[in-house]
Amino acid sequence: MAKSQIILVTGSNRGIGFSIVQATAFRNPSFNYILACRSASSGKTTIAELKKLGVTATLDVVELDVTKDSTIISAKEYVEKKYGRLDVLVNNAGIAPFPKSQDLTDMRKSFNSTFDANITSVAAVTSTFLPLLHLSPNPKVINISSGRASLSRSAIGNMPPTAVVAYSISKTALNSLTIEMQKAEDALKDGEGNGEGWGKVEFWAANPGYCKTAFNGYRGAKDPIDGAEVVVQLVMGERGRWKKGWFWEFEDGVMREVPW
Ligand SMILES: NC(=O)c1ccc[n+]([C@@H]2O[C@H](COP(=O)([O-])OP(=O)(O)OC[C@H]3O[C@@H](n4cnc5c(N)ncnc54)[C@H](OP(=O)(O)O)[C@@H]3O)[C@@H](O)[C@H]2O)c1
Repeated sequence: MAKSQIILVTGSNRGIGFSIVQATAFRNPSFNYILACRSASSGKTTIAELKKLGVTATLDVVELDVTKDSTIISAKEYVEKKYGRLDVLVNNAGIAPFPKSQDLTDMRKSFNSTFDANITSVAAVTSTFLPLLHLSPNPKVINISSGRASLSRSAIGNMPPTAVVAYSISKTALNSLTIEMQKAEDALKDGEGNGEGWGKVEFWAANPGYCKTAFNGYRGAKDPIDGAEVVVQLVMGERGRWKKGWFWEFEDGVMREVPW
């Protein structure tokens, strides 16, 4: 593992993204953390808050609205120029807007905006940063999914009632995207592309669990710092430690596979 890694977390100005940076930085203070936020000023405020909490790692901020291609491209150019590669991409930014009404226009808007932010944007951000990940010796992509993504758990009624249908479906699709990205990466042939990490990226979907954030009106059962632990484990695990292209969660003090 490289001594100092470059880790970028989308939507890290609050909620679980904030806690992912906090928890990972406490355990790995020699790494560089890039807070990718749609408002650079809120990212700067977040850095000040993290420092107040005792984070000593190098913290940086880049403007990135995952739904805006121009900011995805400029963020990638910023990382390329300043760091020359990316070791870990955490696709954390996500939304779950309630449809304003049952009106078809509102329903369509809710589905489209949710799918855009939670699926299409993850594909866009990941494909844009992939050339920088291929320059890392140990590249990783962690897609923040949800227990609601699990068709098995939903089908046997093992989940609380669905709050936003489009959201649950989007996270199931995100899991599917994770599998597809892993298959595409594994199919890359030696010598056909550049970088030490060519064909080596490990992709995971990660379930943080039901966390107290603005997302659910702070009704979640877990502190987001505990929800971040699955990401800490995936970041810190040696290559091959956690089955790639798979769905993971950290519960009851252990890492475990989540049924699809
Ligand atoms: N909370 C839970 O119980 C729970 C459970 C399972 C999975 N998750 C997942 O965990 C992730 C984080 O959720 P959270 O609970 O921390 O929610 P949150 O407190 O609402 O935070 C969401 C974060 O995403 C950012 N974001 C939203 N749209 C964005 C965009 N277009 N571009 C860039 N950033 C954007 C927000 O930035 P702004 O401040 O600019 O809005 C914010 O930083 C989501 O993917 C969610 O699906 C949450």
